[in-house]
Amino acid sequence: MVLTLGPGVAEAPARNLPRGLWSSRFRPVGIAGVGVAVGERVLTNHDLERMVDTTDEWIRTRTGIVERRLVAPGQAASDLATSAARQALEQAGLEPDDLDLIIVATVTPDTPFPATSCLVQRNLEARRAAAFDLSVGCTGFIYGLSVGSQFVSSGRYSAVLVIGVEVLSSIVDWTDRNTCVLFGDGAGAAVLRPASEGMGILAIHLGSDGRGADLLKLPAGGSRLPASAETVARRLHYVQMEGSEVFKFAVKVMAQASLGVLRRCGLKRSDIDLLIPHQANLRIIEAAAERLGVPWDRVVVNIHRYGNMSSASIPVALGEALAEGRVREGDVILMVAFGAGLSWASCVMRWEDVGRTRTQALREVDADG
Ligand code: UT7
Repeated sequence: MVLTLGPGVAEAPARNLPRGLWSSRFRPVGIAGVGVAVGERVLTNHDLERMVDTTDEWIRTRTGIVERRLVAPGQAASDLATSAARQALEQAGLEPDDLDLIIVATVTPDTPFPATSCLVQRNLEARRAAAFDLSVGCTGFIYGLSVGSQFVSSGRYSAVLVIGVEVLSSIVDWTDRNTCVLFGDGAGAAVLRPASEGMGILAIHLGSDGRGADLLKLPAGGSRLPASAETVARRLHYVQMEGSEVFKFAVKVMAQASLGVLRRCGLKRSDIDLLIPHQANLRIIEAAAERLGVPWDRVVVNIHRYGNMSSASIPVALGEALAEGRVREGDVILMVAFGAGLSWASCVMRWEDVGRTRTQALREVDADG
């Protein structure tokens, strides 16, 4: 059995089902291409020293962040998402018309509606693709993988684009030192395609606890507090966060969610070749790596360059790890995230190069099927 689906998603068939039945109902799913786009403007800690009462030293030691990227004025989530999507398609050796579905995970869509995914679909001219957005915060990319992979594993679709994108600079209060030093803008996109037996996504674990909803939120602009002159004056259209509470939750849940998903696919901590954690705070990443016993050279860290890009953090880190040659065929990759909701998500993959080399063969299989 190669694909075990976590709680909140479809049940996997019993282990004793004949292999053929399993294979025909649930085919393995892998990532065929990854694309990355980050804001073009660099905002350093020293720049922030001139904006709020903070210091480079405080930001570095408390968060690990040195600089972050912001979009140019007028740029929005769909612009970054489209750019990352084009790269992912190119790497996968696919044309936009090959796509069946586009899922965009974001809390900073261009507009509440239409969905940002529809704007990406239009930009790419992916005429066959359905499109929808998924809103869950920093865990959004793994939630997107979970939904998208089920369409591919069921055989319903054969090419699904999952994008994590955020323009957090548009919802950050640039007068609030507690939050404005933390975030950045970016996008990461992944194309999901059928993989070989035993390869690709092995297990995904999702979780949420709405009792922590007030710890990290954007209070106004929805149906609870529609936009008004008063909500704007009270600065309620910006991120609000109880940082230290989220920190405590994060340290605990990153290890728990990681161990849970490893157990689900019968792997041990020592099997992890690469840990790709959500990039919210270097101290949280260090604590997770320590609790999991993963050596530091197997942890992907880019928070110093980008800050926290919420749903984009993990796919950007994955894209960079691939570009740097840190991922080899057969490697076990663990991705783990936490965020608003509160929510958490983890995913274990056995990496397979499902890209260009296999695309033609898969096209032929799809055509036959
Ligand atoms: O992706 C999910 C979303 N967010 C997160 O994951 C963030 C999780 N939380 C964190 O990363 C950390 O809690 C923070 C980095 C946000 C804060 O670090 P901390 O060690 O928990 O600091 P703190 O909130 O307990 O604040 C310590 C002090 C406070 O001063 P007092 O009250 O002790 O005098 C803050 O006012 O640091 C002060 N402070 C700052 N000082 C300089 C807060 N922000 C700043 C700042 N510069 N930018």
